[in-house]
Amino acid sequence: MSQFYEIKPEQIEKNPFTMIGKEWMLIGAEKEGKTNAMTASWGGVGVLWNKNVVFGFVRPQRYTKEFLEASERFSLTFFDESYKKDLQYFGSVSGRDEDKIAKTGLTVDHAEGAPYFSEGNLVVLCKKLYAGTIDPDAILIPEIDKTMYPDQDYHTVYIGEIVKVLMKVED
Ligand SMILES: Cc1cc2nc3c(=O)[nH]c(=O)nc-3n(C[C@H](O)[C@H](O)[C@H](O)COP(=O)(O)O)c2cc1C
Repeated sequence: MSQFYEIKPEQIEKNPFTMIGKEWMLIGAEKEGKTNAMTASWGGVGVLWNKNVVFGFVRPQRYTKEFLEASERFSLTFFDESYKKDLQYFGSVSGRDEDKIAKTGLTVDHAEGAPYFSEGNLVVLCKKLYAGTIDPDAILIPEIDKTMYPDQDYHTVYIGEIVKVLMKVED
């Protein structure tokens, strides 16, 4: 048996570079009662406007973007290594083409108005504060524009206030 407990953002002990960049996360949001999620490894956590925040970068063609646009809330779910295959799948197939949640058997739960996955070990529930597209004219290194955006599909940056953090404790 394992259960989620609420912790403060300051109590997250794991390294964010490892959590996001190496272990990845699912960004999940809901639209008209349906949940979609995608894997992300670009993003971060920090402080802005006197709030604890997360930020993520979502390309325009992601189905998840429609869900992020439709909802005021979203979640980041982090998983144990044993779910890496599922994260790979969530990051290579679109919810437009397959029911990713049904295929992986992950369980959607809700907190603070956002869907998240019960199988995760850490969940960050967020309220959208800002959404804006990367401005190519503001990219100062031309090489980055060339290599990261050959199709001009500039990411939308989402900044979310952390409203709740849930951590799983095995008992
Ligand atoms: C490890 C990994 C990290 C990814 N990180 C991002 C990311 O930060 N931003 C993004 O837009 N897409 C990222 N992707 C790609 C999306 O997860 C992928 O296109 C997904 O199929 C989109 O699903 P959707 O169409 O259901 O939203 C990543 C994929 C993988 C495998």
